[in-house]
Formats: sequence, C-alpha cells, structure tokens
Amino acid sequence: MNVLIIGSGAREHTLATLVKESPLSKRVIVAPGNPGMKDVAEVVALREQKELLAFAKREKVDLVIIGPEQPLVEGLADVFRSAGLPVFGPGREGAKLEGSKAFSKVFMEEFSIPTAHAEMATTLDEARAIANNWEGLPVLKADGLAAGKGVFLPETPEETEATLMDLFVHHHLGAAANCLLFEERLIGPEISFFMLRNEKGYTYLGSARDHKRAYDGDMGPNTGGMGTISPAEELSSKEEEQLKEIMESTHRGLLSRKIDFRGVLFIGAMRTEKGLKVLEYNVRFGDPETQSLLPRIKEDILELLKKTAEGEELPPAVSYTYPAGVCVCIASDGYPVRGAVPQKVTLQTPDEGVRLFHAGTSETNGELVASGGRVFSLVAFGDDVVQARARVYKNIDSVHFEGMWYRKDI
Ligand code: AMP
Ligand code: GLY
Repeated sequence: MNVLIIGSGAREHTLATLVKESPLSKRVIVAPGNPGMKDVAEVVALREQKELLAFAKREKVDLVIIGPEQPLVEGLADVFRSAGLPVFGPGREGAKLEGSKAFSKVFMEEFSIPTAHAEMATTLDEARAIANNWEGLPVLKADGLAAGKGVFLPETPEETEATLMDLFVHHHLGAAANCLLFEERLIGPEISFFMLRNEKGYTYLGSARDHKRAYDGDMGPNTGGMGTISPAEELSSKEEEQLKEIMESTHRGLLSRKIDFRGVLFIGAMRTEKGLKVLEYNVRFGDPETQSLLPRIKEDILELLKKTAEGEELPPAVSYTYPAGVCVCIASDGYPVRGAVPQKVTLQTPDEGVRLFHAGTSETNGELVASGGRVFSLVAFGDDVVQARARVYKNIDSVHFEGMWYRKDI
C-alpha cells in the first residue's frame, strides 16, 4: 500500500514509523513532515487541500491518515473521500466533536454520556447572567478550536468577569469564542482513552496520561503536553464498566446521528468521586499520547487503520508487545512562552528499543536544527511504567542542543 500521512509532529513520525514497519506498506509519504521522518518516509512539502488531493491521485495513494485536528475540522477527509480515497479521520461533521465544544456537549447530553453540567452563552449579557447565578467556580470554554488556549479556570468572580470582557469585548480568541460554555468544575486525575471507530464497531486501544504543565511537579504554564505514560493507572471495575458504556454510547450516538466517523476518538476524561466524566472528545490521536501508546500494540497498526478507514469489521480488542511506555518531550529554550533561536542538534543512537521521534526540527545547510517548541519525543517501553521511565531517562543524553530542557518527573 501507498500511505499518505498528513502532519508534521512527533505523533505523525510515530505513525509513519509504525506504518513503515508493517508488511502491508510499500511507500510511506508524509506531508508536510519534518526532516527526522526521512528514515522511514518520503517527506513532501505540501499543505493545501487541492495540492494534497492532486498528489494522492497522481501517486496512487491507497490510504490517507490525517494526524492533526485542524485539517479534519476544515474538511480535508471529505475532500479525499469525495475522490474515492480511503481516509483514516472523520469528515467535517464528525470533527465537530472536537471542533465545537457546544456540539460535543449537546451530543454527550443527548446520549447520556457522563460529563460536567454546562450552560452556554453567546453574548456578554447572557454570560454575565449565567456567571451571577453560578454556584462555585465555573470552567469557561470557548466553543471553537483555540490551539489549547480556549479553557479558563478563573479563581474569583473578578477573574470570571475579566475573561468575559477579554472574549466578548476584546475578542481575544476571535470567532472561536462566539459561543462560551460555563462548565461545572470537576476534581480528579485526568486520563485519556483511545478507540478506533467506524460504522461497524470500535476497538479500545488503551489509555495514557499526559503531563500538560511545563515544569516538574505540575507547575508553570500549560503546554501541548510535556510527556505521557501509557497506560495510566488501573481503573476500578466500576470505572471499567463506565468506560465500556461511554464507548458504546458514543458509537451508538454517532450511528443515531448518521455521522460516518472513521477514525480515532480520544476521550479526555476525569476520574471523579462520582465516577468517570468526559471532559472532551478529540477526533485524532493525542500528541504526545500516541508516542507512548501505539508502539506498545502488537497488532499491525496499518492494518487496523486501513480497516477503520475502509469501514471493515474491527477486532474486539488489541494485545500489547510492551505492557508500558513512557514518552518525554524535549523542548527548546523559551517554550511555551516564546520562540527560540534555532540550535544545531547532535544525536547519538539510543539503546535498542528506545525510539526518538522528531517534531520541531528542520534542516539548515544539511545540518539538523532544533527550530523551537517541543522538538523531540523520546520514548521507552518496559514491563511497567517504572521500568520504561528508567529506560527513557537513561537515554536522555542521546539528544543534545543548546537550551534544551524536559520534565524530569513524567
Ligand atoms: P483542554 O484545553 O480542553 O484540554 O482543557 C484544559 C484543561 O482544563 C484540562 O486538561 C483540565 O485540566 C481542565 N478542565 C477542563 N474541563 C474541566 C472541568 N470541567 N473541571 C475541571 N477542570 C477542567
Ligand atoms: N496531548 C493532548 C492532545 O493531544 O490534545
């Protein structure tokens, strides 16, 4: 098979590596990719929908895998599907589960999926009225995609009012905050669940835990994720039952709404005293959750993604080569607050079984350069998280560039 993967981060590098390792793959192409992927894939500098479609037709691509949420929300999967190409990733309608928090909240309520109570406002007056009657502190969420900047946790009524002013008067998030959700504030550890899904059914892939704050001890600003463990800790038998119900109701809800969702559902949940509650759906693999979860899976990943995309029957479960995985993200100086000066990178081969995935790298005069952000994901596996963690940190010096930093407590 010729496989085209859309995206440029460490998540897509992981996908490209696993697709390349599958006996089913012939050519693996990533657009726009990054230079670190060249070992496993052809990297083509294409971004526009029309260019990508023309390329896929010309190069006889058999399967398209779309990594990030933005192109899914913009309907890239529909563009390929209308041309008869199988795609892993939902169309515009299914992508609303991530692209619109109001849409996903209504969906969860309609199909009795446990979630935080919410109310919605579309004007400053409506928002103030909700704020005045709200018991306790709310969570404020902009409806649309906001690159991880759309959730606010005000600590006082004054902070709530300041956020309302920012969104409705100063339009800090533009149209993404045309609708604002007030949500009940929940307490508990977060956990991410992944399920492949098409019309015929779904397969549970496993769980992971992200570490979103920049610094050790969960301090500092929010980031896209500084590292993950997979699996997260064990669930109680009651929670396992709840997870099954959440997956089943989500699948049934999509059937009932006639949404042809072929892809992965990333269920962001919280373990509260009252059981699991869904905070959000994402309609793509997590980054960096993918790096610690997918390589653990024993089954052929390409075959699973192909079956999902082509609407075939999915297996009831997966098995694991490695019981556990740990991913540590290595970031540039200044992340997540400001951009970095590009720095030359030196790499050494890590121990066998330890994988290095690239995200923020580029090439200057034939040299590998860290261009900023979360530059690498280093991942190790083992019998449990403790062993995988020890392996990943033992290998952290296989990467070196000026200003690099990482969390030491993933
Ligand atoms: P998101 O950008 O949607 O991933 O949300 C950012 C963070 O806000 C989440 O990782 C949670 O820590 C927090 N959060 C979101 N919804 C709630 C909620 N209902 N109660 C408490 N914390 C929340
Ligand atoms: N790591 C969080 C996400 O992919 O949304």
